[in-house]
Amino acid sequence: MMSSLTETRLAQLAEDVRCDVHSRTQDADNDARRAEISRTFISDTVTVPTKEMNEYAIRATLGDDVFFEPSTAALESHVAKLTGKEAGLFMPTGTMSNQVALRTHLQQPPYSVLCDARAHVYRMEGGGIAFHSGANVIPVFPENGHHLTWEDIEPRIVSGADVHIAPTRIVSLESTLNGTVIPQEDVIAISRHAREKGIIMHLDGARLWHVAVATGLSMKELCEPFESVSLCFSKGLGAPIGSCLVGSKEFIAKARCFRKVFGGGMRQTGYLAASAAYALTHHFPLLPRVHALAKRMQEGLEEIGVGILSPAETCMLFYDPSAIGVGYREVVERAAQLPRPIYLNGSRLIMHIQTAGEAVDDFLCLMRQLKEEKVQAGWRGQQADRGKHREVYVRCGSWGGPRVLPA
Ligand SMILES: Cc1ncc(COP(=O)(O)O)c(C=O)c1O
Repeated sequence: MMSSLTETRLAQLAEDVRCDVHSRTQDADNDARRAEISRTFISDTVTVPTKEMNEYAIRATLGDDVFFEPSTAALESHVAKLTGKEAGLFMPTGTMSNQVALRTHLQQPPYSVLCDARAHVYRMEGGGIAFHSGANVIPVFPENGHHLTWEDIEPRIVSGADVHIAPTRIVSLESTLNGTVIPQEDVIAISRHAREKGIIMHLDGARLWHVAVATGLSMKELCEPFESVSLCFSKGLGAPIGSCLVGSKEFIAKARCFRKVFGGGMRQTGYLAASAAYALTHHFPLLPRVHALAKRMQEGLEEIGVGILSPAETCMLFYDPSAIGVGYREVVERAAQLPRPIYLNGSRLIMHIQTAGEAVDDFLCLMRQLKEEKVQAGWRGQQADRGKHREVYVRCGSWGGPRVLPA
């Protein structure tokens, strides 16, 4: 067909297409957003890139990652070496990284994946294990209410040639899980027994950086018991996007195919990889401060008499305000009404590299005030909800119990 594009017509088309997402108030909006983030205990995924990170990132190479982008490949091989694995694969999200890993390991159904009943792969990835891999999931509650042990896992493993069953091919662990660390001796024991049975070990290590800081163990030691590990840059480390899946060369080559099939073959990823590299270099060393803030929050709450459902082993804790006669919704609403609001949601409190120490102090101050108001109103210290909240926490995992949803 002959083109009838005149200059005037092109100008009209271009006018339709043109787009400016920047607003006149954007710089001020971003400043406000940074302030909000520093007072947000909802998640560490709220962390945002810094000016320094952006300046480093923009110098990245400009290749196409479907054909091995150089800065991205450098990040992948660095993370592989750091974790003692042969190869790495940059992923847009932790969810894709976990799901591609499981899909890559699982070859021919029927099969099942055994995991903690609170695991992100099971509860928070849209049923992805069933959707992508057609696998049965065996969710297991830890008997000790903290972490899975081999004693929890062994009786739940499905094995044999009976046509009715879906044999367990993968044990998928998560550490940290709800901010708690699985003791390394338990990880090693699970891995040893699982491997003896020919079962593959996967780790959702979205926050494994925090485990290294909490335990002093190297990333290599932490990853040794696993065939594959997924690590996130966009949560505790504050990169805008990205995760890395590590494993054997053969596994990662296959995972690269599945990443493409899942629609995750990205193009000019250099600046994303560089952001992640910046986060590893400059933000990982900030994690001890984050853990100390979470501890300070826990100790402050305990001093007030607030219940702790799960203590601050790393960057998060779960609390129970019913111990001082206060409900979650009340806390959320009052925190949002402070002259400098604090944002939270339900029982989970997360600290991150951009959390202001002042926000922790202000939150403790609010809890003290709420308690005082209850006492003034005649509250006598009955603890109606404590058992219920603990039960909900233990059984509901990931988002950790009673969540205050928008009305
Ligand atoms: C433990 C864990 N694994 C995986 C993910 C998924 O990461 P993403 O949000 O990047 O998909 C999350 C998200 O917060 C997580 O907490």
